[in-house]
Order: sequence, then structure tokens, then C-alpha cells
Amino acid sequence: MTEGISLAILGLGPGGLAMLPYLDAHPDVRLAGLCDLRIDALQAAPVPKSVPRWTSIDDLLASDVEAVYVATPTHHHAAHAIAAMRAGKDVIIEKPMCVSLMEADAIASTAAQTGRKVVVGHSQSFEPAIQLMRALIVSGAVGQLRALNAWNATDWMYRARLPVEFQREAGGGVVHRQGVHHADMLRYLAGGSPRTLRAAIGDWDPLRPGDGSYSAFLSFDDGVVATLFYSGYDHFPATELTFGIGENGRQALPGHARARRALRAGGSDPSIKHGAGLAAQMERLAPGEHPACFGMLLASCTQADLRIDRTGVQVFADDFCRTLPIVGLPAGRSAVLDELVSAAAGVPTVHDAAWGRANMAMCHAIVESSLAATEVSLNSNLVPPTGAPALAPPPLVFAHLQALFDDSFRHP
Ligand SMILES: NC(=O)c1ccc[n+]([C@@H]2O[C@H](COP(=O)([O-])OP(=O)(O)OC[C@H]3O[C@@H](n4cnc5c(N)ncnc54)[C@H](O)[C@@H]3O)[C@@H](O)[C@H]2O)c1
Repeated sequence: MTEGISLAILGLGPGGLAMLPYLDAHPDVRLAGLCDLRIDALQAAPVPKSVPRWTSIDDLLASDVEAVYVATPTHHHAAHAIAAMRAGKDVIIEKPMCVSLMEADAIASTAAQTGRKVVVGHSQSFEPAIQLMRALIVSGAVGQLRALNAWNATDWMYRARLPVEFQREAGGGVVHRQGVHHADMLRYLAGGSPRTLRAAIGDWDPLRPGDGSYSAFLSFDDGVVATLFYSGYDHFPATELTFGIGENGRQALPGHARARRALRAGGSDPSIKHGAGLAAQMERLAPGEHPACFGMLLASCTQADLRIDRTGVQVFADDFCRTLPIVGLPAGRSAVLDELVSAAAGVPTVHDAAWGRANMAMCHAIVESSLAATEVSLNSNLVPPTGAPALAPPPLVFAHLQALFDDSFRHP
């Protein structure tokens, strides 16, 4: 049997299934079980028959697996992660970490009481291009970060979905489900937390009600400012701005409004999500050949602008424009597993419970600002994560950057 941390996946929707190819390839974490209430999902999972399958979380928790990947619907994350930690398991919790900040506190205190590790992901700051961008910023080679502008436009509202996925109070809608990626990316690149935020949420389609868009302006303590835009309304696709590349690094099919038309033709029965609609979700989440592009992201520094292109991070400096390739760095979901391995070995990691809570707090602030139609201050809600030294990417990302450096990137 392969050595490494034994991990079971809890929840076999698109979120849980997306981890399978990365687990299969990981040298230090191995798949040791699957758990879902749906027997058909357990039977259909594309893994060897020898992998244990449970329909009850109690049976999973009674097993000897060392870690659980909590990929159940968001409103179950807190209960499932806490039960797993109490049963002696480390946990990876899919984003968003949970629904309320009180639940987030309960997860953090259970981790502290039990000594179990929490990794929150997959989210965009695990992606190699974002990590390379952060390493470049931390290195000082492009001067000081001054502004982040992040735009994404997808078909999120028209994909096959369960009703709960549109309910804000259950962690649904694009603010909680997708804004948490933006929060994660921005906080990682800025190396801290915004202090003020003004946002407006859009709910534009009475046939598909819920939080479907948001726009926000944020300021950070050190003068960095940011804008965010997300639309899940499937007209203009942000892949038009990203060389056709989508959020998992896959080349998007040309065209637009495909999900709108499919919904119109196929109906909105929620069972479609785990039936005929699953293939489309899995196609989008399958490993891609390009850097992941969660929409268009422009990081403006005093000595260069940075964006993600087809092979890495493109640097627009005074005298050159050059791409730093990401080839050789682990893909985002592999990096999640790497972080579990580091955390289990006692190494301080970035994406712990405090990190997940702070990302959620930013999404809650988007809701608060939009409802009150005013700027909100985030104050003590958003602390840098404990034990995460200067929000640094893993050493291998710096080593990768160092290997790419030439004189044109060095400070005089
Ligand atoms: N990081 C990403 O890119 C990404 C992508 C998709 C989903 N997600 C996240 O993953 C989570 C799940 O999303 P999804 O779209 O896969 O949801 P889903 O509802 O399609 O799937 C959840 C699965 O959990 C199972 N489940 C529910 N309660 C259970 C229980 N008590 N015991 C065992 N199994 C149970 C369901 O039967 C279902 O198969 C969400 O938090 C979502 O935000 C993340």
C-alpha cells in the first residue's frame, strides 16, 4: 500500500470529485475512502472498487483514516469538520469554510482544543500563478504593490444547481461562493486585509433569484486599493479577457450564454446537477493545461504591472514585457494537499481556520455594505493569519522565482 496521509472525501458533488485526479497523482496523500448519502454517487465514483465507501459519516469517522476532505454543501461544513476533528482527523474544508462567523470561530476553537489541523481550500491563492505573483511582490523586484483590479464574469447563476446554492443564509449565491475566491486572492496578494469596503450586490433575474453579482471598492492600510467585479449572469464571459482560459486553467469553449440556453432547454430540476449536468461541471473543474484564471486580474506595482497569461505571470515593466512561466509548480489542488502534509508535520501554513474566517468576513462585509448602502470598516474582523510568516508562498515558489530571475528583475 502507498504510504502517505490517508484521506477520505466526504461529499461527492463537483467539489469533492474535482479533487480525485490530484489525489491520484499526489506522492504523500492517498485516497482512503469515500462518503456520501447518495449510493449512486458512491458507485459511480471513478476510483478502484477497493476504496472503502460509506453512506454514513459516523462510519467514516469510526474508520482509521487520518484526514477528511469536507466537500459537503457549505451549510454542513462546520458540523462535519468539527465532528471529524473530534474523531481525531485533520480536515481540508472546501471554500467557503462555513456559513457564519460564529461557525468559523467554533471550527477554530475545535482545532485549538483537539490539536487537529485545518486547511481551507481549494481557493485561488493556492494556484501557482497567484503564488508566483505574490512571491514577485514580496521579492520587491517590481516595487510596491499599489492596486489590484479583479473582474470575473461567468455562468454561475445558470449552471445546474440545488435550491440551497442560491440561499445567502446557507452560504449560497456568488458573494459567498465566488466572492470568497476574490477575497482569498486579494488578501493573499496584498499580504493583509482590507480596512474599508464599499460594495453593491446585484440580483437581476427574477427567474433565478439570489446574489448574482457584486461590485466593490476596497482599501488596505498601506495604501493599496482594489476593485472587484463578479457577474454570474452568463452574458459576457470573462474568458474574453483571459486568453480564453477559465478558472481551472482550461481553455473555454468559444461563445457565450451557453448555460442560459441549456437551462431554458433542459429545465431547472435540481436533480440535473448530479445527473445530466454533472459532466459539464466536471469538464470545467478538470485539470487544465494553463494557469488558472479566475477572471481578469491586474496587479499594479510601482515598477511593473502583472497579469496572468497562457503560461505564467506576465510582467509589464519600463523596458520589457516578459512572462515568468509556472511550469514545474504544483497545480492549485495539489498545493492544497501539500499544505495538509505541511500542517500535519507541524509547519505553520497560510490557509488555516483564521485565514478561512477572514476570507468569509470579507464576503459578509460585502453583504453588509450592500444592504446598508454605505462603506464598512472591517477592523479587527480581518487579521492576518496566525503563524503565517508574511503571507509567504511555499519555499519552492521562491526557488522557482529565483531560478527565473535575471538582471532585468534585480533592483539597482
Ligand atoms: N473550490 C472549488 O472550485 C469548488 C467547486 C465546487 C464546489 N465547491 C465547494 O464544495 C462544496 C460542495 O459543493 P458541490 O457543488 O459539490 O455540492 P453538492 O451539493 O453538489 O455535493 C455535495 C455532496 O455532499 C453530499 N452530502 C450532503 N450531506 C451529506 C452528509 N450528511 N453525509 C455525506 N454526504 C453528504 C451530497 O449527497 C452531495 O453528493 C461547497 O462548499 C462548494 O462551495 C468548491
